[in-house]
Amino acid sequence: MNKKLPPCPAFQHFIHGADYNPEQWIDDKSIWDKDMELMRQANCNEMSVGIFSWSTLEPREGEFDFSFLDEIIDKIHATGGKVILATPSGARPHWMADQYPEVLRVNPFGQRNGFGGRHNHCFTSPIYREKVRKINTLLAQRYGKHPAVIAWHISNEYSGECHCDLCKNAFRDFLRTKFDGSIDNLNRAYWSTFWSHTYDDFDQIDPPGPITETGIHGLNLDWHRFVTHQTMDFIKNEVAPIKEITPDLPVTINMMYEFYDLDYHKVADVIDFASWDSYPEWHNGDDAVIAEKAAFWHDLYRSLKQKPFLLMESTPSGVNWKPYNKPKRPGMDVLASIQAVAHGSDSVQYFQWRKSRGSSEKFHGAVVGHDGTADTRVFRSVQETGRILKMVDEIAGTVTDAKAAIIFDWENMWALDDCQGYANAGKKYFETCYSYHNEFWKRGIDCDIVSRHADLSKYKIVVAPMLYLTDGTAAQNLTSYIKNGGTLYATYMLGTVDENDLCHFGGIPGCGLKDVFGITAEEIDVLYPSERQHASVDGQEHELVDYCEVINLHGAKPLAVYADGWYKGLCAVSEHTFGKGLAIYQACRDSGSLKDQVFSQLLDRIGLTSNVASPLPHGVTAHSRTDGKNTYIFVENYSGADSAIVCLTTPMLNLLTGDTESTASLPPYGFGIYKTK
Ligand code: GLA
Ligand code: GLA
Repeated sequence: MNKKLPPCPAFQHFIHGADYNPEQWIDDKSIWDKDMELMRQANCNEMSVGIFSWSTLEPREGEFDFSFLDEIIDKIHATGGKVILATPSGARPHWMADQYPEVLRVNPFGQRNGFGGRHNHCFTSPIYREKVRKINTLLAQRYGKHPAVIAWHISNEYSGECHCDLCKNAFRDFLRTKFDGSIDNLNRAYWSTFWSHTYDDFDQIDPPGPITETGIHGLNLDWHRFVTHQTMDFIKNEVAPIKEITPDLPVTINMMYEFYDLDYHKVADVIDFASWDSYPEWHNGDDAVIAEKAAFWHDLYRSLKQKPFLLMESTPSGVNWKPYNKPKRPGMDVLASIQAVAHGSDSVQYFQWRKSRGSSEKFHGAVVGHDGTADTRVFRSVQETGRILKMVDEIAGTVTDAKAAIIFDWENMWALDDCQGYANAGKKYFETCYSYHNEFWKRGIDCDIVSRHADLSKYKIVVAPMLYLTDGTAAQNLTSYIKNGGTLYATYMLGTVDENDLCHFGGIPGCGLKDVFGITAEEIDVLYPSERQHASVDGQEHELVDYCEVINLHGAKPLAVYADGWYKGLCAVSEHTFGKGLAIYQACRDSGSLKDQVFSQLLDRIGLTSNVASPLPHGVTAHSRTDGKNTYIFVENYSGADSAIVCLTTPMLNLLTGDTESTASLPPYGFGIYKTK
């Protein structure tokens, strides 16, 4: 089996580069020449260009000037570098907004934005789509065959929504299609007789918002779905001419951390490989916790296409948009870069190559600062990452063969956050998913992050935290996974509503999952923030927070029981054999130690082992990549204070020293990269 799946087939190496916006120095091209020399010194082999270049490329309507891109792409090529070429739709020229106000966004109060900012465009506007298509066509024709160009960076960080009439009508059409043109179907799905909200016609439907409707949960959910749909439609329009002219060049979009607006599991369908922009808040608390959260998102972006992704942006020092913009401490930048690679990235790229002189990002971290030299701590750190990437280049393209997965699902999150009930102060879906991901992370076990409809057959264990929205298709997916021998670990709130956010009738978890788990969930105690309850597992007590669901057993047996509260003695974690598999249900939210005990026993039982041989100290983790023949193990220490020694499963080749070693010896913020012999 070929297990090398390079995201950019034209360049099967690690990519080390940055966002580069050289048009800022168009009047002093000596800086461009300095940049080329500095790139070589920084061990960089790629630049992402053209991201916000529209006003330079088309200064007046229909008047195109590609001379700066011609020159810069040739210069990068002459330096031996590659180019990821962006389409410029993330920000538009002033003339366009003046001439065609419809390209600008309308807010939920019905007011059209003025010109300014970026991402300020309507996704439906035919004029904007036409303008984007035109410039993308010209870019593809001009650079599609350039030997330096290896991939397309489509727009920048798609986000947001528009409430103009064009978008409203597109939303109504989306609903017409969804409900087969029947307003009765829509009314039933939206439970609209409640509060007399029955619709007579699709044309009456407005997007939910502060001056319209917010109480119809099915409508709110469909609006989220529409925003994803319409953004994907816009991306398809961007990509169409590119695919026609350069069918062999892959396209990507750069995605984000804890991003809420778009269902990336769906968006993945319109791109060839995933990439994302990672800006963890290093040193704001325990770096181990921060690393685990970043790891979750690296795992998600790898899982989207089940192949290596690109780290499209990261800062080599600090950012400029957080409340406190702390630079990374010595060692952290290289470690954070290697973290991405450990999770399946085939690149380390920065925002940005050279710090802007003015405007809003003039103090954002960059490889080259305002001093313009290589003689900085940040530059040397980038150089070091580039050196390491060259040493381990054989790993580029290798995949991650995870046997564990977490179900993290955007539609579920939207529905859960929208529902009025439980704790309205916050449902904590991200945090809960992180807490289960951490059970794998801290043990050095690779983990995928997938949707509720994903193919689960390759996993030994799947965790479905708070899967409140469980439609029939998802329930069937989970049921056959367990029936065929999988272990599914679900929690409180499983199977509460269907795809329209209507409550399942006849007891929960719905859609047949009661029988699969051998339980019914009856009610849920919501704890005040200062309140604690407890549950015991084999006589060991653990602290519970936020939620204690009361469940009845119908065939399942208890793994943990409540130790206090009015539900003392009742089941807190249950286990049920179903078909060839196992269905575990955690009815309560715990502070961490209950999960730890249950997972230790469970992982032993199902034979899911760590990438290393010894238990990992706090803040240390291990990941693997493989080409089907060789296995590569990454061991990472996120403690800035403590060294760690970790036993490897067998003597391995240390790719950074050339020595054969049985243990990884890691200084603070240290790491090791090993290859099976
Ligand atoms: C008020 C309203 C009811 C209902 C309840 C919910 O009393 O009159 O329609 O919304 O609040 O607590
Ligand atoms: C995002 C954007 C970049 C830049 C960085 C700053 O990732 O894509 O253009 O603004 O944030 O951190």
